Amino acid sequence: MDNAKSNANIEDRGAMPAKRLLRVLAGGSVAPPPVWLMRQAGRYLPEYRALRSKAKTFLDLCFSPDLAAEITLQPVRRFDLDAAILFSDILVVPYALGRRVGFVEGEGPKLDPIQPTDLGKLNGDGVCTRLAPVFETIRSVRRGLPASTALIGFAGAPWTVATYMIEGRSGNDFSASKSFALADAKNFAKLIEVLVEATSDYLTAQIDAGAEALQLFDSWAGVLGEPEFRRWVIEPTRAIVARVKKKNPDVPIIGFPRGAGMLYADYARETGVNALSLDPGVPLVLARALQARLPVQGNLDPQILVAGGDAMRRGVETILAALGEGPFVFNLGHGIVPETPPEHVAELVRIVRGAAAA
Ligand code: CP3
Repeated sequence: MDNAKSNANIEDRGAMPAKRLLRVLAGGSVAPPPVWLMRQAGRYLPEYRALRSKAKTFLDLCFSPDLAAEITLQPVRRFDLDAAILFSDILVVPYALGRRVGFVEGEGPKLDPIQPTDLGKLNGDGVCTRLAPVFETIRSVRRGLPASTALIGFAGAPWTVATYMIEGRSGNDFSASKSFALADAKNFAKLIEVLVEATSDYLTAQIDAGAEALQLFDSWAGVLGEPEFRRWVIEPTRAIVARVKKKNPDVPIIGFPRGAGMLYADYARETGVNALSLDPGVPLVLARALQARLPVQGNLDPQILVAGGDAMRRGVETILAALGEGPFVFNLGHGIVPETPPEHVAELVRIVRGAAAA
């Protein structure tokens, strides 16, 4: 309690935040770097699978604050990570807008593909009411977190969420989404605008509930050509960042335009995000150039975490040698996959902490 209070005082004076992750996201360097992992809660953990079987559907799990809070805390407890990420999913937003969303075991998300005639039926006003259980999860996690651990809230970015709404599943060639955007740009822009508003409101409510940093997942940003990337990735992200920061200018936002390649630089310059999450395809020379402008996070290939052993040690040390002087957050370049042995995660955290301290 005393600790939390004095931390608040330090932040009031405009000094660096006390939590290691937040210090880096504010532009500081921390040695060893803070570490958390995308999809750190999930099926690779036996304790997750045990709780998963208590809920009928995946969305029921996301909307059960006691279960979702416990799942959020599981990896933090097991691995002593520097951040917790809210346990939920990017597809709760289309659900809250009134779309049908399901998750089929072994297949992934299933939605009713949206048609232009459905756009008028999207209910943006009810989003935060329907997502109230998520805010309850956030409040509950904050009560259960160690004083040094930050809580990250998140949402999907509009382009990526739109692809799920249009394709009805994880995209393959994204032909339905691209032809919608190209052949009916006016309606596509309408869909993106609905998502910008809903996502901004949702993220702002996550901050109100206790999220201390946010990540915007644009998992399919990399399938767009440059003009489309500007219009459907950079522009909507810039709009969300501006709206969220209007009320909460000091809460850092991490952008993850996965697969953006060279366009990471324009995304960094034009969206106003505070930090970049880098995918495994970003070469370390580009990562260093980006880091000269803002904090970066990443970017170990999740398959290297599955492999473990020497390959993992070399992979981690190469990244730390290039980026470890900071501002840097150690992470994967995409989410942990279910085949990952939990012991490899424990070893990864040891390497990150030990290597930088040596
Ligand atoms: O990172 C975390 O630990 C927080 C929770 C989280 C989940 N999904 C839980 C989840 C986060 C941040 C997400 C983000 C998410 N969801 C993204 C963006 C990141 C990325 O992976 O590109 C996307 C595209 C989704 C959509 C989604 N949800 C897919 C494609 C799938 C199926 C694939 C899979 O791994 O099964 C989901 C389901 C999902 N989301 C699971 C979890 C733990 C597995 C569902 C289960 O337990 O049955």
